[in-house]
Amino acid sequence: MEEDGVKSWVMAVTAQTPTNIAVIKYWGKRDESLILPINDSISITLDPAHLCTTTSVAVSPSFTHDRMWLNGKEISLSGGRFQNCLRELRSRANDVEDVEKGVKIAKKDWDNMHVHIVSYNNFPTAAGLASSAAGLACLVFSLAKLMNVKEDHSTLSAIARQGSGSACRSLYGGFVKWIMGKEENGSDSIAVQLADEKHWDDLVIIIAVVSSRQKETSSTSGMRDTVETSALVEHRAKVVVPKRIIQMEEAIKNRDFPAFAALTCADSNQFHAVALDTCPPIFYMNDTSHRQVLFLIISRVEKWNRFEGTPQVAYTFDAGPNAVLISRDRKTAALLLQRLLFYFPPQSETDLNSYVIGDKTILQDAG
Ligand code: ADP
Ligand code: DP6
Ligand code: CO
Repeated sequence: MEEDGVKSWVMAVTAQTPTNIAVIKYWGKRDESLILPINDSISITLDPAHLCTTTSVAVSPSFTHDRMWLNGKEISLSGGRFQNCLRELRSRANDVEDVEKGVKIAKKDWDNMHVHIVSYNNFPTAAGLASSAAGLACLVFSLAKLMNVKEDHSTLSAIARQGSGSACRSLYGGFVKWIMGKEENGSDSIAVQLADEKHWDDLVIIIAVVSSRQKETSSTSGMRDTVETSALVEHRAKVVVPKRIIQMEEAIKNRDFPAFAALTCADSNQFHAVALDTCPPIFYMNDTSHRQVLFLIISRVEKWNRFEGTPQVAYTFDAGPNAVLISRDRKTAALLLQRLLFYFPPQSETDLNSYVIGDKTILQDAG
């Protein structure tokens, strides 16, 4: 393309990244700028067909500064987290050449090239369904492709961590553990895959979107307040979570659903307990969320249908009111959904409005 005698071109890359839902929660940082957590966490990466971020990144000599649009609205990239990710990626960029388009960017020129980023979440943003996880993982993944960054997933995951802690886990599929690490520079605070998405493919995930409204307290500020004011969170991080991590790894390895469900529910409960123990208290779950938990507990007590006293469904709530239900198999999921639709019908007097049925999956590159 030739405009006013100046060579102009645009080169773009699009990627898709799924979100992940923690079954042992990350809540609290020991280093705010590097994003280093106070405990290990474990999550399940979801199927991008249901919950994912799609991000297109473009570079052109005609771009005068870095810009980003999220869900159709321009947002600022001036925050430290975006800047940290961009800096880490630019420092690892390589030569890029597309002869057909007449594109040539030398490694050393990336410092002076600007990017435009357009991102879309196919699920509610900032509503407690881990949009920051899918969003920042996708941002890093797509920019790395554009800039011809040759590092492996582990390095990209460490960069994504500096954008949003939970994002480091979205670079892997299946069951993923984020090891908190000990080093001050964060070099050992990394995500590792515990088992791939095929390991336990009976599990079905149902997400009850109780509210898609943006939460009042972001995860970042919520966990900062918790670390500063909660008397319980230290006990959680130092005593409770280390034991649960060992037990959860064992439950996942053995596909032991009763143990998996007990740990998942207990950890969700404790995460919301430390949120309540924060000053001022943080209420992420709402009345509908509470009624759903009661419904699950009562269902088990009544042993309805195939529910024979042992847990068939695990629940976990992230930093928001939306229930993530993990059912042990498809039959149970069908029964559960039938019951949920009966007791919590969409568009009822509650603000519950939809159900999403998902699966575990792997990272997808939209090319
Ligand atoms: P959530 O529970 O949805 O992760 P958080 O409070 O952790 O909520 O993070 C929400 C923030 O994450 C948004 O305000 C935005 O800054 C960032 N975010 C969400 N989606 C994207 C995206 N697709 N690309 C870049 N940043 C995103
Ligand atoms: C409740 O990763 O969103 O979802 O690192 O400040 O961006 P920042 O926070 P974020 O926190 C996620 C908290 C959680 C639990 C989890 O995903 O482990
Ligand atoms: Co988040």
